[in-house]
Amino acid sequence: MNNQISRRNLVKLLGVSGITLPLAGVANASDPFPSKVIRKSGEPVKLSSNENPYGPSDNVRKAIINAFDEACRYPYGKVSELEEKIAKREGVSPDMVLVTGGSNEALRATGRHFGIEKKEIIACKPTYLALMTYAEDFGCDINWVPLDDELKYDLNEISRRVSDKTSMVFICNPNNPTGTMNTAIDLEDFCLSTSKKTCVFVDEAYYDYSIPDGYPTMTKLVKEGHDIIVSRTFSKVYGLAGVRIGYIISNAERIAEIKKCTMAGTNMLATHAAIAAYDETDFFEFSLNKNKEALNTFYKTFDELGLEYRKSYTNFVFFKSGKHIDEFGKDMLGRGYIVGRPFPPYYEWCRISTGRVEDVNAFCEELKRYYS
Ligand SMILES: Cc1ncc(COP(=O)(O)O)c(C=O)c1O
Repeated sequence: MNNQISRRNLVKLLGVSGITLPLAGVANASDPFPSKVIRKSGEPVKLSSNENPYGPSDNVRKAIINAFDEACRYPYGKVSELEEKIAKREGVSPDMVLVTGGSNEALRATGRHFGIEKKEIIACKPTYLALMTYAEDFGCDINWVPLDDELKYDLNEISRRVSDKTSMVFICNPNNPTGTMNTAIDLEDFCLSTSKKTCVFVDEAYYDYSIPDGYPTMTKLVKEGHDIIVSRTFSKVYGLAGVRIGYIISNAERIAEIKKCTMAGTNMLATHAAIAAYDETDFFEFSLNKNKEALNTFYKTFDELGLEYRKSYTNFVFFKSGKHIDEFGKDMLGRGYIVGRPFPPYYEWCRISTGRVEDVNAFCEELKRYYS
């Protein structure tokens, strides 16, 4: 759906008039990092794409503006600077890091690289689909494994299915759309044994949110030389989804192979932004705290309404609305909120992103009215 949907279009879409939309939010002046998101009056609140509406911070904005002076230059030198910075922090060599245009570019490039072998990739469903969708386009089969009862990746079942046909296993931890996380010990054991047989890709887009809950990144195993690729992004906690920058970490051979499959790469402005954001701890912590506050508001509301949900290690929550998502999504849009898309086979569940605290509060009040 078009994010910039106008009130008139919305009314047309719903075929109703007289609906009440929430007012465009006003930044909370007491916040050190007030959200600059401008919503035109009557536009719905976007709680659908797991973005961080508080970003980018003022520092990062300045870095982007200053970077315009270098916009006439190709970004390669600056990208190498960022790769070196990431390598230093992660304790790997720079040739083990590849910065891309959002982690999505790395996911697609990896999907193409492995997909073209026309073997099989194993992944759970529902999950973040970019890598598998791209691999399928190159003739690769996807061996889909259902999530376990807790809506986590079913690592035991994946292990059982690994065979000579498998060219890669994809793991999303924490998982999108369920927000669930496999424990460090389980995932480490799984990665250690599975990477002896096939390459393991671990998508850590929500890694930053899971640090307080003790998720140790699988880069530890990359460093030990196992056949593992880890992806990360600046789109979430760093609040840079719109400028497109992310990265992968793996052994130098894998990085070189995947680099060959990339297309556009990132750009000068995004790289300056990421370098500035990477060192900025106060905005990072602020974002984590705001996210926690919003998650707790969701949990409290779901508890009050008796709606089932899964504890989240991300910036969104998966909850059981009890209605088909097509109908629920339409109902919420009519009340001024865009929620997550359908995630088959969980048609009665909804993924809701945290957004600004005031928007989350208003959504929760609306939800109480909806179920009353
Ligand atoms: C699990 C996961 N991986 C990767 C991405 C892609 O992020 P980006 O391309 O913005 O880095 C997303 C985006 O929502 C995601 O949820």
